[in-house]
Amino acid sequence: MLGPVILAASRSDRMRRLVSAAPVTKQVVDRFIPGETVDEIVPIIEDLTAKGLELTMDVVGEDITTPAQAEAARDAYLELIDRLKGLELGTRAEMSVKLSMFGQALPGGHELALANVRPVVEAAAAIGTTVTLDAEDHTTLDSMFAIHEELRREFPGTGCVIQAYLFRTEADAHRLAANGSRVRIVKGAYKEPAEVAYQDKAEIDKAYVRVMRILMEGSGYPMIGSHDPRLISIAQELAHRAGRKLDEYEFQMLYGIRSDEHLRLAAEGHRMRVYTAYGTDWYGYFMRRLAEKPANLRFFLRSMVSK
Ligand code: FDA
Repeated sequence: MLGPVILAASRSDRMRRLVSAAPVTKQVVDRFIPGETVDEIVPIIEDLTAKGLELTMDVVGEDITTPAQAEAARDAYLELIDRLKGLELGTRAEMSVKLSMFGQALPGGHELALANVRPVVEAAAAIGTTVTLDAEDHTTLDSMFAIHEELRREFPGTGCVIQAYLFRTEADAHRLAANGSRVRIVKGAYKEPAEVAYQDKAEIDKAYVRVMRILMEGSGYPMIGSHDPRLISIAQELAHRAGRKLDEYEFQMLYGIRSDEHLRLAAEGHRMRVYTAYGTDWYGYFMRRLAEKPANLRFFLRSMVSK
């Protein structure tokens, strides 16, 4: 019941001000977003990759309101990529981007987002790595898929995300499960209406399995984005049945969630990529993490009271 309320709060400016100003917020936020600057995040990247994990890096931010903010987002990614160059990690450290942070919701937003994300994809390719376009709310997805298709013409490694809770996703998966296309499947983290999305957890899980099967049986590269132990073992079974080797798909989880499982899967020989967010505009990302697990909210509120 709490999840939808927290997701609604994730779009409220008043809540943003309240939560951001709370004295304990920073220490709770750090669990999910382990740095605000490139200097703070580089040691984390070095530590995780030394443990055999791979990374997808997210500079937090979304729903910007001016073209200048979109350019700043582009520049933040370019700064990160410049620092990654020296680490020579190749695809072990890729980028995840939200097109809303690149101006997608502004007037002329489709073109603006494409113009801002293209230099990031080019810079990533120049250091031997790739970019994945995150999936945001359902109203943004046609534009995201069109930008993905456009970028893939020149940069075939560009990935995208599909969300199991949306009715449209099985059709998207059939279209995308081809030609080495890198596709991350997730359950979905936004508040979506019943006209477009399953609301029931069990229905979402069933849809997730159907979509995984399509991806595993196709000729793309499936990226399984979930912490759900049941779905992870079904993914392994489906990959086995589809004759995929361990390096022909990968698991992805969020930094700070089930970290032991990251290491266990990597030790078993799986490609395990940790989605690692950093930056100062962490509010939306943080609130979605609270919405996914009400215990996180209880912990957050308890630490506020005990201060
Ligand atoms: P589920 O929510 O059922 O969780 C399974 C178990 O994992 C829980 O029982 C708990 O133990 C643990 N867990 C999950 N979330 C937790 C949390 N926040 N705190 C503590 N424990 C938690 N969504 C989206 O709409 N667009 C996107 O682009 C992405 N990108 C993305 C990348 C990657 C790598 C991941 C892993 C996830 C996303 N998501 C996303 C988020 C996704 O849609 C979904 O909200 C979360 O992954 C939670 O769903 P699970 O599949 O983990 O299952």
